[in-house]
Amino acid sequence: MQLRIAPSILSADFGNLARDIRMLNASADIIHLDIMDGSFVPNLSFGFPVIESVAKEAAIPMDAHFMVVHPERWVERTAALGVQMMSFHLEAARNEAEDILADIRAKGMKAGLVINPDIPVEDLYPFIGKADYFLIMSVFAGFGGQKFIEDSIPRIAALKAELDKAGNDAPIEVDGGVGTANAARLRDAGASILVAGSSVFKAENPAEAISALRNPR
Ligand code: DX5
Ligand code: ZN
Repeated sequence: MQLRIAPSILSADFGNLARDIRMLNASADIIHLDIMDGSFVPNLSFGFPVIESVAKEAAIPMDAHFMVVHPERWVERTAALGVQMMSFHLEAARNEAEDILADIRAKGMKAGLVINPDIPVEDLYPFIGKADYFLIMSVFAGFGGQKFIEDSIPRIAALKAELDKAGNDAPIEVDGGVGTANAARLRDAGASILVAGSSVFKAENPAEAISALRNPR
């Protein structure tokens, strides 16, 4: 399957955000938006004013990754800004994950379910058929620039096998420490959307870094 590359603007230059979004329009598949509330994760990032600015320039789909305690509060406003994909953490959803996924779909977005590296991958299996995509964190959510956790590869492979068994083709997205050193192995394990922050924006030529990720060896 062809990989889709979703650069995370967490590592972009916010003083030149429109320029960076135009670069992504021309070279990437998806724009990944990391929304942090300082409560679910020990960091703050950005919220609706920034998403709105991104939306004005974005010509490719936006993927909002909510690292917040009450994701259900933000579904409607996220949809209203034209975001096509919205994901939230199973750990943050208490026992409401199914309802939140349904609400995201009802608002016309693709619904994604995320887990941190310490959550058993099996916890996602009951949501096969209820989520449009799954996001496996390959670092603990909260900061860009962390080291890739190798154990993410077998977790992706296990989820991929379970999806295949169910005849479900929901994409698996992977986020954290992704770069050319692991992109081929992530693809081979069954990931089809690669999120990349620092490996794209800290590269000398971000557009070239994106195309290297798309066809990894
Ligand atoms: C981490 C975020 C990631 C992060 C990825 O909490 O979810 O999307 O920006 O950054 P890198 O690619 O630098 O690990
Ligand atoms: Zn993310």
